[in-house]
Amino acid sequence: MPDNNDKALLELKEYINGKKQKENPGSYLIDILHKAQNIYGYLKKDVMDFVAEEMSIPTAHIWGVATFYHYFNLKPIGKYVIAVCMGTACYVKGAQDVLDSLKETLKIGTGETTPDGLFTIQEARCLGACGLAPVVMVNDKIHGDLSHKDIPALVESYRKKGMSSGKDPAE
Ligand code: FES
Repeated sequence: MPDNNDKALLELKEYINGKKQKENPGSYLIDILHKAQNIYGYLKKDVMDFVAEEMSIPTAHIWGVATFYHYFNLKPIGKYVIAVCMGTACYVKGAQDVLDSLKETLKIGTGETTPDGLFTIQEARCLGACGLAPVVMVNDKIHGDLSHKDIPALVESYRKKGMSSGKDPAE
């Protein structure tokens, strides 16, 4: 169980209490999990246990919801989440090569985070920028018209930024 004096936990508890005032509080479970992820960056097991207890919902149900929706992270994520679009338009324009290059550059697989905590690789379905295929999204920034050869330089630009406190390299 998380430390009850934890400020983040108090924020979550307050949010849950707000939902408990409403009719059918259980229907706000996804909202609550979103809030928990926003606060902690991912859904820690002890936080899910806490939500289960507060909402009087079995932990197994919470786990089921958290694992069903791909936007919930069950493990810590990196400062930069690189989502490679594997939608059809991107796929036919080389998304697999882009993904392979990214895995090779970062030496991690999909869903994993680099040991320095800087990067997480994710795969996504259509990111809504098919005209720029193939596309990757780094946090909320789209990079389009990529070749797998562009990946090392793209990663390097974010690595430099991550090591300093400068601006987003793509801005
Ligand atoms: S398929 Fe990749 S952005 Fe649409």
